Amino acid sequence: MKTVLITGGASGIGLATARRLARTMRVVIVDRDGARANEAARALNAEGASAFAYAADVTKSDEVAAMMAQAARDAGPIHAIFCNAGVSIKQPVHKMSEADWDIMIKTHVKGVFLCAKAVLPQMCERRDGVIVSTGSDYSVCGKADGAAYAAAKTAIYSLTKSLALEFAPYGIRCNSVGPGPIETPMLLAGRTEEEWAPLRAARAERVPMGRLGRPEEVAAVVDFLISDRSSYITGQIIHPNGAQISW
Ligand SMILES: NC(=O)c1ccc[n+]([C@@H]2O[C@H](COP(=O)([O-])OP(=O)(O)OC[C@H]3O[C@@H](n4cnc5c(N)ncnc54)[C@H](O)[C@@H]3O)[C@@H](O)[C@H]2O)c1
Repeated sequence: MKTVLITGGASGIGLATARRLARTMRVVIVDRDGARANEAARALNAEGASAFAYAADVTKSDEVAAMMAQAARDAGPIHAIFCNAGVSIKQPVHKMSEADWDIMIKTHVKGVFLCAKAVLPQMCERRDGVIVSTGSDYSVCGKADGAAYAAAKTAIYSLTKSLALEFAPYGIRCNSVGPGPIETPMLLAGRTEEEWAPLRAARAERVPMGRLGRPEEVAAVVDFLISDRSSYITGQIIHPNGAQISW
């Protein structure tokens, strides 16, 4: 059984992907929220899966390196990694603090860099591996009041393309999934269902398919990108987005 490691795996898209991949793979759930990562792994194991959980902050190189080494010891060689941990801080540029800007760039761009750097030596040695990162529709278009998010997601896409070129000779594929609006705790941003219901309808109206996406619909794309069904796809971004953007 191959092993997949998922960052941001305790919630939303990462958790839906962990659930889906746990049917066929050993799953390592990594999140800065260690309690929720443990809870997610426990629930999967109760259903017969083979899941592990680690607390790590993807912006911290020492935590990422230690977690990666421990995960490989516990769960075996890492065949695939889904670099998915993310946060959303939205502000117009002239009101955004430097500290918030740094959090956005560090979590998304540095987070993918550190995780890729930590896992690539073992992938290169085995000449086998898949890296999938979570971009966004905003990897390829701008976002008013979300410049840091869009800049970070564009950088993730660029990093993914460079990784694909650099490691293709080793048989390692690197792709990005670029979701549109997906109903997760990030999109709800702490709102109650009552507060969210009218916003959901307004947000859905802006999507040509007329609805928001489900985390499971992103997980299906990640599953495809990790599997051999996408064996000749690398350096690409695939958008499960209801046609919110097409380019
Ligand atoms: N929900 C959407 O509409 C949407 C659309 C496009 C892209 N995305 C991206 O999808 C990814 C997952 O988001 P989601 O919607 O599932 O949100 P979510 O808030 O449900 O999950 C994000 C997870 O990442 C973890 N995390 C955050 N910072 C971390 C860090 N420094 N180290 C380790 N873990 C960390 C959080 O604890 C959380 O469990 C993010 O990269 C996000 O930018 C989301």
